[in-house]
Amino acid sequence: MDHFLYRDGILHAEDIPLPQIAAAVGTPFYVYSTATLKRHYRLFKDALSGMDNMVCYAMKANSNQAVLKTLADLGAGMDVVSGGEYARAKAAGVPGERIVFSGVGKTREEMRLALEGGIRQFNIESEPEMVVLSDVANSMGVTAPVTIRINPDVDARTHEKIATGKSENKFGIPIARAKEVYAMAASLPGLDVVGIDVHIGSQLVELEPFEQAYLKVAELTKLLRAEGHNIRRLDLGGGLGIPYARSNEAPPLPTDYGALIQKCVGHLDVEVEIEPGRLIAGNAGLLVASVIYLKEGEGRNFLILDAAMNDLIRPSMYAAYHDIVPVVEATPGVEQQPYDIVGPVCESGDTFAKGRDLTPLGPNDLVAFRSAGAYGAVMASEYNTRPLIPEVLVKDDQFAVIRARPTFDEMINRDIVPEWV
Ligand code: LLP
Repeated sequence: MDHFLYRDGILHAEDIPLPQIAAAVGTPFYVYSTATLKRHYRLFKDALSGMDNMVCYAMKANSNQAVLKTLADLGAGMDVVSGGEYARAKAAGVPGERIVFSGVGKTREEMRLALEGGIRQFNIESEPEMVVLSDVANSMGVTAPVTIRINPDVDARTHEKIATGKSENKFGIPIARAKEVYAMAASLPGLDVVGIDVHIGSQLVELEPFEQAYLKVAELTKLLRAEGHNIRRLDLGGGLGIPYARSNEAPPLPTDYGALIQKCVGHLDVEVEIEPGRLIAGNAGLLVASVIYLKEGEGRNFLILDAAMNDLIRPSMYAAYHDIVPVVEATPGVEQQPYDIVGPVCESGDTFAKGRDLTPLGPNDLVAFRSAGAYGAVMASEYNTRPLIPEVLVKDDQFAVIRARPTFDEMINRDIVPEWV
């Protein structure tokens, strides 16, 4: 459920009609709903309420500081994957003890930054990383809390580019080698091994792969405890999928996911962490665009928008489906037309949808891409020297620009032309 509904035939973000935002900031833009963000965070909190838990929002999904602060004020932790994300989380007011640091390629500088600013734990992904982190911590006279990410070799049954739990993926250490790798970690003076980490992929639409992975983690917890490791925390990753095509998709709900976690690891007397990103931010955001032209092609009509693949790359990158709806609700009885919905970028890959049925639209009409709050603005680029589009946050009847559109000068003045050119 989200807070983008039609009222009197006009699509609103909470209490604000979208055309009002379009008039104020121009199109295209992203718009997020505070109420939806909060609701999704609370769904996870409630789902885990029977267990000692922390929900660490995977901020890669949407890292605008206004979004981070909205969630942090509810008590959310953050899952960060770079020094930049760490700094952003801190800038948004998230205390270090609520930040977990994931990722296969943490540098010494990133480790130092997090150890200086405070960190809940590093999720370590390899032996070389372990050695380096121990060294960095030692040189600072501190101990780094760590979990080790295991690769359970489970098929997440999602798009291959976002599956992370198979042995062919670069993530984690093979579960079969966990015993020796934990022994090595325990022997390193700069590390305090606190638990186990797993994350098998994103946009999972079934619970079964989670179950397979979590049962393996439960088994490993017992094995490692028997080896003398004080396993007291399980980071179970993110990945719960969202319905992109509302008419025919119904992925499992956070409550079912929470019940599964309880079933798999609830008896182990551990603190549970999860790292959801998409489910918190995805359906809390829309991308709103205008039609520039309606172009008649050979046996098809192209709806050319002012948004493009550089603004929302998911359709070109993962062949992802997003519901695209008119901002002015279709008049009942008017027959829909099939459109190829495209952007202005000079690549055929700049296609959002082919043969999509929509109410008849023409120049200046507004459309909204649903489920665009996660992996939308954060993956945008300035390809074709198209400015990054504004982000707007709505709360009840107020809205604010939370990232402004840069001017052409701001963009081009970042280039430096050496005097010898
Ligand atoms: N934890 C770790 C270690 C991750 O790598 C990820 C996502 C998450 C948590 C959050 O997963 P989520 O709950 O959002 O599924 N750009 C792609 C998605 C990439 C996901 C990368 N890792 C997309 O647009 O579909």
